This record gives sequence, structure tokens and C-alpha cells, in this order.
Amino acid sequence: MKRKDFLQLSTKAALFLGLTSSIACKDEIDDAASKTLAMKATGSAFGLKAPKIDKVRVGIIGAGNRGQTLIQMFDWLIKNNHAKVVAISDLKKEKTDKLNKHLKKTHNYTADAYFGNPDEWKKLADRDDIDLLIICTPWEWHTPMALYGMEKGKHVASEVPIAFTLEDCWKLIETAERTQKHCMMMENCCFNNEELWVLNMVNQGVFGDLTHAEGAYIHDLRKHLLDDTYYEDQWRIKHHLKKDGNFYTTHGLGPISQYMDIGRGDTYDHIVSMSSREKSLSNAAKKHGAPQFANVVCGDMNTSLIKTKLGKTIMIQFDVHTGRPYDRLNTVVGTKAVHEGYPSKLYINKEELEWWGHRWLDEKNYQEYREKYNHPLWAKLKEQISDNSVGHGGMDFVMIYRLIRCLNKGIPLDINVYDSVLWSSITPLSELSVAQNSSSVKVPDFTGGTWKNKAKSEMLRDV
Ligand SMILES: NC(=O)c1ccc[n+]([C@@H]2O[C@H](COP(=O)([O-])OP(=O)(O)OC[C@H]3O[C@@H](n4cnc5c(N)ncnc54)[C@H](O)[C@@H]3O)[C@@H](O)[C@H]2O)c1
Repeated sequence: MKRKDFLQLSTKAALFLGLTSSIACKDEIDDAASKTLAMKATGSAFGLKAPKIDKVRVGIIGAGNRGQTLIQMFDWLIKNNHAKVVAISDLKKEKTDKLNKHLKKTHNYTADAYFGNPDEWKKLADRDDIDLLIICTPWEWHTPMALYGMEKGKHVASEVPIAFTLEDCWKLIETAERTQKHCMMMENCCFNNEELWVLNMVNQGVFGDLTHAEGAYIHDLRKHLLDDTYYEDQWRIKHHLKKDGNFYTTHGLGPISQYMDIGRGDTYDHIVSMSSREKSLSNAAKKHGAPQFANVVCGDMNTSLIKTKLGKTIMIQFDVHTGRPYDRLNTVVGTKAVHEGYPSKLYINKEELEWWGHRWLDEKNYQEYREKYNHPLWAKLKEQISDNSVGHGGMDFVMIYRLIRCLNKGIPLDINVYDSVLWSSITPLSELSVAQNSSSVKVPDFTGGTWKNKAKSEMLRDV
């Protein structure tokens, strides 16, 4: 499809592909979805290697909750001369000051700060002494900042999701392929101890052939969503007033997609999605003096099912409205083993009648698997991880460590632009399905067919 047609489509389709739920008619949705299916990628950013960078010069955009955690993940890398944070941007000076206070205290220097208006970050991205942009702003900024950064010759790494409209998904693919810059979504759960252990077992054949997996983002966020001091300008709850679907797919889908070789021999084919009615967030808004947020459009629980080209199924859930304990499920089912998370348990099919289907491994046997298949990355980084456990128990450190070390070594990143876009695209696709009474929606091929090339996840490479 030509770029001109794409832009015409974008204006018309923007209504449906993530920005608002004011759905006009089903024909228009079908039209938008089928046109986006017809767009073509070349696959030229697959396995992308960039020249080695001895010391990666980093610019951080967004110094809110996430920026303040992520800057600490650079401490070991800065001390060991693998990276340096040279610039920081945020709307607010007090937030860039906070990051600089950390740099001053820990490394005895401060980074250049850009603040004061919503376009100030562009000055940071325009600099020619920055190699990598780290983007930790609200969702609506991820794609524009990543696109601008790549156009300015930077590698980019964005918080999740990297895009929430299909139009933005395609723009990221087109720009990453044309500029040959790394464009990674920082899906930290892919780097968690439990998920890497499961991945290692999958790759070593413990699970046999995979058939099904389940993931989720179940996290009671009501307090944070309604608190007018937590997210800048309460940006996050505003999405819940406009759309209905799964807004936060990637914590569940990232690890599952790596278990299932998605993008490396298999890919998503189609999705169906259904949302429950909404009750909990609006009740909380009314009860806690925030009636302006009482008209919630997003259902309390969204459940989506994805079928892959090779016939595997994935269930993915999203609930940040109800008072339930945190859960990402992390379920994976194969012909030889099953894993379920929260808490982690493992079933091994012993091929003996009395074992069939009835018992999780006891603690002793579970621990044997845990030790035998502990991922080499976690084994290697044990000491640094225990020093950096503030980042979600260590996974944030492992993610930033891998990102920087891959750039130092000039090897492909663990999560490429196709992974980033595909996992994120489930947000607008779930919204399309929900809006059409849970109809089946085709998933576009963002890879130009390269998903057919069988390869194991890059996560194990060159550890
Ligand atoms: N991977 C994870 O575990 C994880 C955890 C928390 C948040 N996140 C993600 O991180 C991102 C940020 O979330 P948060 O909780 O830090 O939100 P936040 O509101 O605390 O921080 C966002 C920051 O971006 C700044 N900002 C907004 N527009 C800007 C602009 N134009 N230029 C420069 N700065 C701008 C805001 O001032 C704010 O400080 C979100 O995408 C969220 O989904 C990921």
C-alpha cells in the first residue's frame, strides 16, 4: 500500500484504531482493519545489528514514577563505563531535578535537563551526542517520541505499550526498517527470573510441543488511577473513559510469545475479545470524591483469545479495576509439562498412569527443576541483581543491562521492533473485536513474512 493511501486511511480509521470508542458503523471498522492488513513490511529490521557503541550515551524522556526507577537501573552500567545518562527531559523541572539528584549523589555529575513545555524533549532528541532514547512518558507519547528519535538517528527503547493504534504500529515498522535503528519496547517481564526459567525449560524441550498459554495484567490500580498526584495530570484513567478492550497486553504476551516462538516460526493469526460490564472503577470514583471519572467505558475484565498460525491458543486478560491480588498468570501448557504462576508450580507428565494429570511437583522436585534450568543470565548477574532489586525484584535491571550490553557488543536486541509492535497491536485489535460483539479480527503481518523463519528467541544469545 502506498504511503498516500495509508495517510488517507489513517484519518478515517483513527476513530476506531485506538483513539476513541465512538464507533460509527461496522463497515468502517472492517474497512480500516482490512486496509491495515494489506500494508506491507519488508522484514529488514529482523536480526538488526548496529555498529558497536563502547559507552552508550543515553537520553531519558519522562521522569515520573517509571523514569525514577529506571535511572537507578543504569547505576552499575555507569560505574562500569558501559553507559552514561547525558540528558533528561520532563514537563516539570522538579522531576528532572529528582533524577539529577540521584546522578549527583551516586555518580557525582548531573545530566542536561530539558523541561517546561511538551515539545522540549525534541531538543534532547536533536542532540548529536546521544545514542539511545529511553521513553517513559504516558502512552500517547511513546510512538511520536520513538519515531522522532529514529528519524534523528537514535536507537529508541520505549515503555509499554509502544503503540496503541494500528496506524502507529505501522509507522514504527516503516520507520525502523527505513532508518535501520533499534526500536525496542522495554517489556521487563520477559526478563523476570520465573519467565526466563520457563523460557529456558521450553527451549530445552521440557514442555514438549506447546499447545496453549495464558497471561494477564491483573493489578488493582484504582488507588493510583484516582489519586491526583500519582500519574501526571491523571493521564492513565482518561483511557478508561474512552475505550474498551485490553490496554496493557504486553506483560502477559511478551513472555508467552517468546515461549511460543512468535515471530520466529509462528505468529498470531486472529483474535476474539470480550469485556465484562464495568462496575468497580466507577464505584470507586463515586465513593472517593471523583465523580468526573465515574463514566467508565472500559469493562472491569477483558478476556481475549488469540489463535496462532500453527494452532496454539493464548488467553490474555486485563483487569485493573477490581480488588484482586496481582496476577500475570504465566501459564504454559505443553505435551510434556505445564507451568502456572502466582504462585509458580510445575507439572511434569511422567508418562506413568498414576501421574497423569493429577499432581504438581512437590517442593523438592520443583526446586530441582528450578535449579537445573535457572536461566544463565540470572545465574551470571546474581550479585548485581541483588544490589538492584528495587526494579521489580531485579527484572528491570536485567532488561536495562541486556539493552546496553547488546548495544555495546553490536548484537541484535532481545526484543525487536516486530515483537514490540505485534504484542502492542493486541490493544487496538481487542478494541475492534469488543466493538463488533467479539467478532474474530485478523492480526496483520507486521514482519513481511519473516515470522516464518524458524529461530529461537534472542534472549539466550551471547549471555
Ligand atoms: N514496565 C513497567 O513495569 C512499568 C511500570 C510503571 C509504568 N510503566 C509505563 O511507564 C510509562 C510512564 O508511567 P509513569 O507511571 O511513570 O507515569 P507518570 O505520570 O508518573 O510519568 C510520566 C512522566 O512523563 C512526563 N511527560 C508527559 N509528557 C511529556 C512530554 N511531552 N515531554 C516530557 N515529559 C513528559 C510527565 O511529566 C511525567 O513525569 C507508562 O507508559 C507506563 O505504562 C511501566
